Amino acid sequence: MNTAEAKAPETSKNKISFSIKGRASAAAAEKAQPVAPKPQTTSEGPKKLPVAVSPLVQNSIPKSRNYEGNTRVDTVARRPSPPPVKVEKVKKKRIKARPELSEDFAQSESVYYRKTGNDSVVGSGTYGKVYKAVHVYTGSPVALKKIRMEGERDGFPVTAIREIKLLQSLNHLNVVALQEVMVEENDCFMVFEYLSHDLTGLLNHPTFALTSAHKKHLAKQLFEGLNYLHDRGVLHRDIKAANILISNTGELKLADFGLARFYQKHAKQDYTNRVITIWYRSPELLLGETQYGPSVDIWSAACVLVEIFTRHAIFPGDGGEINQLDKIYNVLGTPSRSEWPGVDELQWFTLLRPRQRIPSTFAEKYQSRVSAEAFDLLSAMFQFDPTSRPTAADVLEHPYFTVEEPEAEQAVLLSELEGDWHEFESKALRKEKEKQERDARRREKEGAAAAAAGEKRKVEEGSAGGEAVKKAKVGAAAAAVAA
Ligand SMILES: Nc1ncnc2c1ncn2[C@@H]1O[C@H](COP(=O)(O)OP(=O)(O)O)[C@@H](O)[C@H]1O
Ligand SMILES: [Mg+2]
Repeated sequence: MNTAEAKAPETSKNKISFSIKGRASAAAAEKAQPVAPKPQTTSEGPKKLPVAVSPLVQNSIPKSRNYEGNTRVDTVARRPSPPPVKVEKVKKKRIKARPELSEDFAQSESVYYRKTGNDSVVGSGTYGKVYKAVHVYTGSPVALKKIRMEGERDGFPVTAIREIKLLQSLNHLNVVALQEVMVEENDCFMVFEYLSHDLTGLLNHPTFALTSAHKKHLAKQLFEGLNYLHDRGVLHRDIKAANILISNTGELKLADFGLARFYQKHAKQDYTNRVITIWYRSPELLLGETQYGPSVDIWSAACVLVEIFTRHAIFPGDGGEINQLDKIYNVLGTPSRSEWPGVDELQWFTLLRPRQRIPSTFAEKYQSRVSAEAFDLLSAMFQFDPTSRPTAADVLEHPYFTVEEPEAEQAVLLSELEGDWHEFESKALRKEKEKQERDARRREKEGAAAAAAGEKRKVEEGSAGGEAVKKAKVGAAAAAVAA
């Protein structure tokens, strides 16, 4: 391709970017709108329309200079124009030098440069892929989340519209910022600020380990973010480690609002219970509850907290509802009616009623693995009765955050971590490791088989050699006899 042609200013013409409400680009667009011209008035004040008068009188009244017949003419245009005021042109200095683009950037067809093929992929999920890219002029990194259009019969997917609208109404340090929505050729992208890691990637990092103070800081930010959402009347409905982004200076931001929605704070309403990745789904949702609130996010956040503390998921089920409930019962015990009033009224309670009473093993499993206050906090969040769980604001007031040592400390050291760690990269690493292990096992097997074959051949050759010797001996003996 001709590089001169491919320079971003020309090619960025293909790009239409818009944002629905409130952001800077929308404000700029508004400013650029042509302003409706104001009606021009003279210093004498507004002119009155001519009043219909009798033809006799009409002739005697001199016609206003501002009317031709009954049509008003522009008064200002007819006046001799005032002497021109000399406006001195102020030469503005260019504040920034015209940016020099590197070769890659200059060749980029988009204003957001990204490496070709799969090299720039940092996530791949329900919607499609998420790419890491760089704004060629500002140099700031962004995440481009492609909106999957295939199979959409009704144009732009409504789920994406919901996600965009929600994100545009949010503005908090612990919620990922949507910068704009971009249409490029046939693709549509949400453009986000870029964060180097997500919690799954970090927790699966082969060497990096968080201190207790770092963990507390991450936990704090998680509940600050949730508190903001719940306060604004938003349920996230997909809190899990892969949807929690972490910057290379230890800032945490909630992401993936694909399942989020506004909820009625003071009225009960029905919502779908098929939300939240199943390992993080609360027992009331698993039992068919449709009138739920922020406490479903608190349950998921408690699961994430356990992962932050131990690096392991607390309820890793096989993907089915029954098995998921079993996983929960095996740790927390089966719920009793006294601790969860109304449990037997849930839609699927009878269907999924536990076959036997199981006692809780939670303390046995976790008390020694987390601090005393952290254990207390987790126990409160893992209550079966959703109305007994603390709110995000309550959680932030818990002694784990306010009293217990160590104090929360931002994981700024993450800046020294090499590479970007998202679920995607950690999965790739795991796959690579598994492949290497498989290869090593195969080589070992092949080696063993080859060794065994070698032995066998030796043995066979040994016996064949023996035969030959025998034959030779027999032959020699026969010859001797003959002689
Ligand atoms: N702003 C971002 N910066 C860096 N990585 C991101 C960003 N947004 C998403 N990702 C990565 O992409 C993955 C998928 O994005 P997500 O929004 O969760 O989409 P999906 O709905 O497909 O799960 C995330 O788990 C995360 O690893
Ligand atoms: Mg996701």
